[in-house]
Amino acid sequence: MPNTRVSREIFGETAEGLAVERFTLRAADGGVAAKVLSLGGILQALEAPGKAGPPVDVVLGFPSIHGYLEKHPYFGAVVGRVANRIAGGRFAVDGKDYTLAINNGPNSLHGGIVGFDKAVWLAEQLEDGVRLTHTSPDGDEGYPGALSATVTYRLVDNKLSINYRATTTRTTPVNLTNHAYFNLAGQGSPDIYDHEVTIMAEEYLPVDDTVIPTGEVAAVKDTPFDLRSPVILRDRLPQLPGDGFDHNFCLSQSGERQTCARACHAGRGCVMTVETTQPGVQFYTANFLDGSLQGKDGCTYPRHSAFCLETQNWPDAVNKPNFPNALLRPGEEYNHTTWFTFTVSP
Ligand code: BGC
Repeated sequence: MPNTRVSREIFGETAEGLAVERFTLRAADGGVAAKVLSLGGILQALEAPGKAGPPVDVVLGFPSIHGYLEKHPYFGAVVGRVANRIAGGRFAVDGKDYTLAINNGPNSLHGGIVGFDKAVWLAEQLEDGVRLTHTSPDGDEGYPGALSATVTYRLVDNKLSINYRATTTRTTPVNLTNHAYFNLAGQGSPDIYDHEVTIMAEEYLPVDDTVIPTGEVAAVKDTPFDLRSPVILRDRLPQLPGDGFDHNFCLSQSGERQTCARACHAGRGCVMTVETTQPGVQFYTANFLDGSLQGKDGCTYPRHSAFCLETQNWPDAVNKPNFPNALLRPGEEYNHTTWFTFTVSP
């Protein structure tokens, strides 16, 4: 018998009248629970225990479908076809040039204007999770080839895994991630300054003023990007250029499962460990949140009220020959997994 109970309910409907379901994955021990929408594969809630009191919801989001149908900063969503930025929305594959929808200054961000976060995915309930499938047609947002994507959320005890798979009919860049905004003190807490963060990366990618990597792969040693030992964000954020972290940290490119990050809110005793097969993780401290959105429990979300750890390929890899391969070819399978594990610290 699986230790997870899965239930499904109708969450709402899109402007086109498509029903959106919500799947609740609940660990039998009452610790971790995850709520996943068929719209955008959105992780709408994630309850995680602390050292006292009941588990609390540690991801930002909206209480009903309406917030998710408006423009929002990818709260909890599966991001694709290519997460993060492609410079100028341009790239070439096998000598042919492609132009994408531009939606972030001069660049294409998170799949374009209508990315995977806006799609209603086909959902199948599993014993311990939910499997979502979506086919992005040839030419979608400018990308070549029809891409069939499958994203599977599973909850096993205190570990939530997200597996991303895809195949294509023509060679295309692919980079799938989840854009959950975490606050381990509980969503709606005003800031993340008390969090202690570790990122197990020797190198990171410096960016230009449109947040495109310059191409340099820089050592973190002797910089504010050195998070190899735990840092308290209150101390580290003021040392950064700009408003906070919005950078890719470079991980092993082996494709093997590796622990890449750990975040801890000591006050609540909540620890999250992130493992992934991906070669990178974007650490983003919600620098662009401005308190204007009304979220769950009537909360608003100011700047630095959450952080994201978006496991991914390196931004703009399709245009950078020294970055990991970004292309999926017909006959190949894209297959990556990320695990979020929640433990309690004394
Ligand atoms: C990007 C940020 C962006 C955020 C929300 C992150 O992945 O790196 O620059 O503001 O997503 O779109």
